[in-house]
Amino acid sequence: MAFFIEKLSLTQFRSYTSARLNCDHRPVILTGPNGAGKTNVLEAISLLMPGRGIRRARIAELKNIKASPAEYWAVSSKLNTPFGPTQIGTGQHPDQDGRMIRIDGIDQKSQTPLAEISAIVWLTPQMDGLFLDSPSVRRRFLDRMVSNFNPKHQSHTSKYDKLLRERSSILKTQRAPDPHWLSALETQIAEMGIAIAAARHLFCERLEQAIERLKIDESDFPFPRVEIHGLIDDFLKENPAVDAEEFFKQRLSESRQIDSYTGGAQDGTHKSDFRVYHKGMNMPAENCSTGEQKGLLVKLILGQAALVKAERGFPPLLLLDDIAAHLDARRRDILFETILGLDCQSWMTGTDVENFSGLKDSAQYFSVKNSIISGQN
Ligand SMILES: Nc1ncnc2c1ncn2[C@@H]1O[C@H](COP(=O)(O)OP(=O)(O)OP(=O)(O)O)[C@@H](O)[C@H]1O
Ligand SMILES: [Mg+2]
Repeated sequence: MAFFIEKLSLTQFRSYTSARLNCDHRPVILTGPNGAGKTNVLEAISLLMPGRGIRRARIAELKNIKASPAEYWAVSSKLNTPFGPTQIGTGQHPDQDGRMIRIDGIDQKSQTPLAEISAIVWLTPQMDGLFLDSPSVRRRFLDRMVSNFNPKHQSHTSKYDKLLRERSSILKTQRAPDPHWLSALETQIAEMGIAIAAARHLFCERLEQAIERLKIDESDFPFPRVEIHGLIDDFLKENPAVDAEEFFKQRLSESRQIDSYTGGAQDGTHKSDFRVYHKGMNMPAENCSTGEQKGLLVKLILGQAALVKAERGFPPLLLLDDIAAHLDARRRDILFETILGLDCQSWMTGTDVENFSGLKDSAQYFSVKNSIISGQN
């Protein structure tokens, strides 16, 4: 089963006044000089998933600075999905904070339905520092991967965050909060938290297996080993989920006082850390060389794509920004071969079209200049 974009149109999005692009299932190569508008296209596509996209931009930032105050940005797409052709639109809301989501002409109340339809995996140069970044950045990376694998995960994490905020607000504003009310809230937090932790653990287990199945040699891209660390995670590794829920609930109940001063909650799945190791060298990824870290990331991304395909029956879209520039010719060819093998519509950008010559006519080529996209070059 296939999943790919057939039509994409951008209106007052970033540097684009208006742009349209028609394509088929093959990888899409966007080439052009620096500042041409290539990454902006990938960013627009990344908004077909819940969240803030590849740059984590605020909604207002996405509007073309040259657009008039009465204009708003919009991204619209026609997708070929296993459920049939689907039209997804997203854009700035004239009078609300959130972005608008429209699926097949129907306005959605939340972004969650996007996770049910789409699966999008991305790798951008900004992610090169992932292993050195804060646990929250890595957790977000992990949760995005898990949501591609299990679409329910996205709504679980947003519900969990909402419940935690509700608890924080009660602890902060009420002198003597109703213990029954708090306890009921903490039960829900614990249930949701353990569902999140269990989904993350299952994903990590399957991810390593999916990476093995890719059969990409260790000398080309090193094998990552992935682990999740955290008080609740460590408990869940050794105990049944029901006991982990009880343990988590107990921790929440015990930390009420300190949480009322510090805000948030001392422990929970919002504190977990996603750790990656170079399997062969048994080395934490953050201590690996720049090239090794990039290799680990590429293998994580490809493994994730393979896993989504195996689990959901269709390959995700892959957004690989500036990917070719960082890889030598052999590694580029291995990457292309894997993408073609997975049947992913992979959107790849670069300044030099020569770097994609290994794909020949298995891909479709567009050139981007001054935020104008023109057909096959
Ligand atoms: N809100 C906006 N309105 C108008 N232009 C914008 C907006 N946000 C970013 N830009 C501009 O869009 C242009 C294209 O950016 P983009 O990141 O897509 O370039 P690129 O082709 O990926 O370049 P590079 O090869 O350097 O990565 C930049 O000149 C940037 O300043
Ligand atoms: Mg770019």
